[in-house]
Amino acid sequence: MVEQLAPIIAIDGPSGSGKGTISRLVANELKWNFLDSGALYRLVALAAKWHSIPLDDEQGLGTLAGHLDVEFSSTDDGASVKIFLEGEEVSDAIRREEVGNNASRVATVPLVRDALLARQRAFRQAPGLVADGRDMGTVVFPDAQLKIFLTASVEERAQRRYKQLNEKGVSANLNALFEELEQRDKRDRERAVAPLVAAPDAIVVDSSGVTIDEVMMRVMGLWRDACR
Ligand code: DC
Repeated sequence: MVEQLAPIIAIDGPSGSGKGTISRLVANELKWNFLDSGALYRLVALAAKWHSIPLDDEQGLGTLAGHLDVEFSSTDDGASVKIFLEGEEVSDAIRREEVGNNASRVATVPLVRDALLARQRAFRQAPGLVADGRDMGTVVFPDAQLKIFLTASVEERAQRRYKQLNEKGVSANLNALFEELEQRDKRDRERAVAPLVAAPDAIVVDSSGVTIDEVMMRVMGLWRDACR
């Protein structure tokens, strides 16, 4: 008997499009597993800093990504996930802007992407997986049952990030956030390997001016349609 692989909903899109929030909500709603693939690139960037590996040392970064000592552990209420790198909790540390920007740089290195492939695919477990990233529908899970490409204008994404940082009590400059997002989008879209691009069979959902609840309802509706 051929073993049936668990179903996948792939949600790709640029930074700040809301895909992290939506993916988590969809995974909770369906009681499925969740892969935050961006966290893996962030972990490589943080580990590179800890071990003083320069961001242009492709071989060193590839080896590091292949030996990454990470653990994702759900909190008791299942509401969030704690992330550990080499035994140290780094859930907040990997969310810093600097780590995000460095993650976008290490993500251009083919050896890093190759090293993280098997690790990402291991998240595919019953009853299903919601995978959040840039290349979930194109490279990591090209056979996903549903592929969503979630976008929003750069202005709106910068505003959202600004609000998020303010709520956390972190001071931020809206113009600087806007420019960083544009740069990060450019790097993610133009890199040679697994660039940020909608899969030909992905459904594009624009979240500009739309509430999280509305996007969530749209995605759940698309999933119901895909099951028919
Ligand atoms: O989604 P995020 O902001 O946590 O991702 C951080 C960086 O990692 C992002 O700039 C691009 C990269 N990334 C990637 O190249 N491929 C993925 N599947 C996920 C993230």
